[in-house]
Amino acid sequence: MAGVLVIIVSFLLVLPTATAIGNACGHAGNYTTNGTYQSNLASLTTTLPTNTSSSPQLFATATTGQVPDVVYALALCRGDMTSNLTGCSACVAGAFRYADQTCPNDKAASIYDDACLLGFSSRADLLVIPANYSNNVTQQDTSSTLYQFWNPDDLAGDATVVGAAVRDLLTQTAQEAASNGTRFATAVMVPSSSVSKTLYSLAQCTPDLTAGDCLACLQWVVGMVNATTSVRNGGRILVLRCNVRFETFMFYQGPPMKRVTPSSGAPASPIPAAPTANKSM
Ligand SMILES: *[C@@H]1O[C@H](CO)[C@@H](O)[C@H](O)[C@H]1NC(C)=O
Ligand SMILES: *[C@@H]1O[C@H](CO)[C@@H](O)[C@H](O)[C@H]1NC(C)=O
Ligand SMILES: *[C@@H]1O[C@H](CO)[C@@H](O)[C@H](O)[C@H]1NC(C)=O
Ligand SMILES: *[C@@H]1O[C@H](CO)[C@@H](O)[C@H](O)[C@H]1NC(C)=O
Ligand SMILES: *[C@@H]1O[C@H](CO)[C@@H](O)[C@H](O)[C@H]1NC(C)=O
Ligand SMILES: *[C@@H]1O[C@H](CO)[C@@H](O)[C@H](O)[C@H]1NC(C)=O
Ligand SMILES: *[C@@H]1O[C@H](CO)[C@@H](O)[C@H](O)[C@H]1NC(C)=O
Ligand SMILES: *[C@@H]1O[C@H](CO)[C@@H](O)[C@H](O)[C@H]1NC(C)=O
Repeated sequence: MAGVLVIIVSFLLVLPTATAIGNACGHAGNYTTNGTYQSNLASLTTTLPTNTSSSPQLFATATTGQVPDVVYALALCRGDMTSNLTGCSACVAGAFRYADQTCPNDKAASIYDDACLLGFSSRADLLVIPANYSNNVTQQDTSSTLYQFWNPDDLAGDATVVGAAVRDLLTQTAQEAASNGTRFATAVMVPSSSVSKTLYSLAQCTPDLTAGDCLACLQWVVGMVNATTSVRNGGRILVLRCNVRFETFMFYQGPPMKRVTPSSGAPASPIPAAPTANKSM
């Protein structure tokens, strides 16, 4: 019955590596120290990190133990971490440690780090995707905690034009991610008369979502970008099942999978050598 809990962090912290960027806990009750729930969680801590990094899609779910001490968990690494499997498992292991430090004895937590996310809960709905998920993600996504992180600075330029370009970038990145079997996409928007800086973006869903459910989830989070946040110098919105991020710097490995041109606004600077734009419409 829990609705989606919204926590907003209105500034982007620069944190040391291996420090999770956000957590949510304190809403699901506590387990007993040295009890069965804790030992079930401890067993997940030893296996889920490597199960995640050894999965081709860097995604793993797990159910451990018996009612009333059953623990459900899922972990997902950023799609480009296929080039850094050690970093993927280390990130998930670090997320467990971070949960233990910041949410001691909490039965449920969502941890969002740069390179991975982790959720665990005593509730089965963490892993269940309702048949009608796409109908109304807001209503269906009862197990997630939503985070937004925004760079406090604004991009230069006309706010309406800049905001439209950022939304366009995120929307097209979301479409690309949903239509790819990996449910992951990266994109770049080169400087133009709309936005003077290069923008890098990413969208990802847990790969157990269908293309339609993934798109619905991403459209939901992209729909939260408003007039104020759409002109920020970077930001991210995360729930367990899907997330988007954009920055003025490259934050993923490998070349962008898609090039996006703002619908209004001709390129203002020479376009760097890159694969032919394959903007879909
Ligand atoms: C859970 O434990 C924390 C810290 O030990 C405590 O502050 C909190 O009140 C506890 N919550 C419940 C529901 O017992
Ligand atoms: C939990 O187990 C540890 C190690 O056996 C012990 O040191 C600690 O006192 C126990 N804590 C509780 C609350 O039982
Ligand atoms: C990890 O993978 C192994 C082999 O597939 C499986 O037996 C085990 O249950 C998995 N553990 C978790 C926590 O997912
Ligand atoms: C691999 O990932 C870890 C964890 O995110 C990171 O600290 C490390 O710099 C990455 N290594 C490379 C070579 O990208
Ligand atoms: C989705 O299915 C659930 C469970 O069957 C139901 O409670 C809910 O009302 C449905 N929501 C929509 C939007 O159809
Ligand atoms: C989706 O569910 C939320 C929360 O229950 C509700 O406020 C909203 O009106 C619903 N939207 C649609 C289109 O049904
Ligand atoms: C799907 O995504 C993967 C990376 O996650 C990429 O290598 C592949 O080219 C993409 N496929 C298509 C058809 O874009
Ligand atoms: C835009 O979204 C942010 C983050 O959710 C929120 O703090 C802010 O009040 C919203 N601004 C407007 C104008 O709706």
